[in-house]
Amino acid sequence: MKIIIASHNKDKIREFREIIGDPRIQLISMREAGFTEVIPEPGHSYAENAEIKARTVFEALGGRVLADDSGLSVDALGGYPGIYSARFAGEHTAYREKCERLWALLSNVPEENWTAAFHCALCYIDSSGRLHHYERQVPGRIIRERRGENGFGYDPIFYLEDRGLTNAELPSAEKNARSHRGLALLDWYRDIEQELSSDQEE
Ligand code: IMP
Repeated sequence: MKIIIASHNKDKIREFREIIGDPRIQLISMREAGFTEVIPEPGHSYAENAEIKARTVFEALGGRVLADDSGLSVDALGGYPGIYSARFAGEHTAYREKCERLWALLSNVPEENWTAAFHCALCYIDSSGRLHHYERQVPGRIIRERRGENGFGYDPIFYLEDRGLTNAELPSAEKNARSHRGLALLDWYRDIEQELSSDQEE
């Protein structure tokens, strides 16, 4: 079964492939499928933006499309950068600098209040054009230093209390098993098992 991932984000696409290691599912990036435009994200929520991405690619290419909108919501900043996480401090700004800018915004907030959560909303459009939504979040806290080399984005400053490690210090298999994206994708995967079986019979 071919599924088009409505994203140009290489890190996300890599994680999708690591998480869904099912040989029956071929995950193709929208670029590989011939869609090279950047999709605007005017939505006001993760779910809205995921739906916009999925619909745009489905309308252009048809087939089966899976979109992810995700981000880091910091409690003391009213959920910011949230849906603006990729655009925060400038779309093409290195993550090192984005982290610096985040610390700057938090400079007047006591560190014990640097609680945050990673969110992931998925929107899947099946071959009959029906929409399916999934959303998961994982709580943690922002720390004042970068720790770890794995993952991407804000992972080195996102600390998981129960593990005593940042997302970037976790081996990728562990991040994928417990991350916002991993959990949302596994919800989706459970749901498409049925579609998968009927697809095999076609
Ligand atoms: P989107 O492509 O508009 O959904 O933006 C997602 C952005 O959220 C990414 O570019 C990262 O800044 C951030 N983000 C989402 N998921 C993760 C993750 O797993 N680790 C670190 N940063 C993430």
